[in-house]
Amino acid sequence: MSPFHNIVILTGAGVSAESGVSTFRDQDGVWAKYDLNDVATPEAFQRNPKRVHDFYNQRRANLSSVHPNKAHKAIARLETEHSGNVVLVTQNVDNLHERAGSTNMLHMHGELMKVRCDACGQALEWGIDLATDIACPLCENMGFLRPHIVWFGEMPFYMDQIYRHLAEADLFLSIGTSGTVYPAAGFVAEARAAGAHTVELNLEPSEGESYFAEKIYGAAGTIVPTYVETLLKA
Ligand code: OAD
Repeated sequence: MSPFHNIVILTGAGVSAESGVSTFRDQDGVWAKYDLNDVATPEAFQRNPKRVHDFYNQRRANLSSVHPNKAHKAIARLETEHSGNVVLVTQNVDNLHERAGSTNMLHMHGELMKVRCDACGQALEWGIDLATDIACPLCENMGFLRPHIVWFGEMPFYMDQIYRHLAEADLFLSIGTSGTVYPAAGFVAEARAAGAHTVELNLEPSEGESYFAEKIYGAAGTIVPTYVETLLKA
């Protein structure tokens, strides 16, 4: 029986790296190829919506050729087999966690497979390319659909819920994130203040490394299944 009841997991791009989805800040990452001010801010979308749509269309299309890896599967296994609660908070906008079987999860930075209408405010599932000349299927207004992605300068989703979970956490796991983007980068301090044991599983020490009580470094597809196995046996 695990000594922990409430587990909160935060994941970042590193968990999907071995599936072939680019991270953001590694040497060949997304932000080495694109200026985030051109594709990931509300101002960029106002200035040049086509460029922003092209960027997310390409990333959405890429999801059909990638698959969940051992780290996604181990996280889903933890949710199924742990006797207490497991909440997964992901910064990732891909759909690999849900395809691996995770269900109790919050996409705090949005989802590539959804769009939102700025006219009626509704989000809807979306699997094809998005463009400025498409009408919202719900309210029929033309030109108001945008990626359901949290851009820099916008408030991430589910923040109240996430802080409630962090306040009740016994164990906080941070997996595959550089710990550079707030508010997610501040979750470890919240969980620690609430008395949680804090563990970092990443390829290398993150920016928030000093906040973690336990640190395990290596590729997520290797270290996460081993950690989950040990935790479930504890
Ligand atoms: P980053 O690209 O900043 O960090 C990815 C982390 O994963 C790095 O610390 C890598 O060392 C680590 N990593 C790489 N490969 C790994 C592997 N195989 N196994 C384990 N770890 C590995 O990505 P995030 O921290 O997710 O936001 O970035 C946070 C946010 O910044 C993203 O959600 C995105 C981005 O700008 C928005 O677009 C709003």
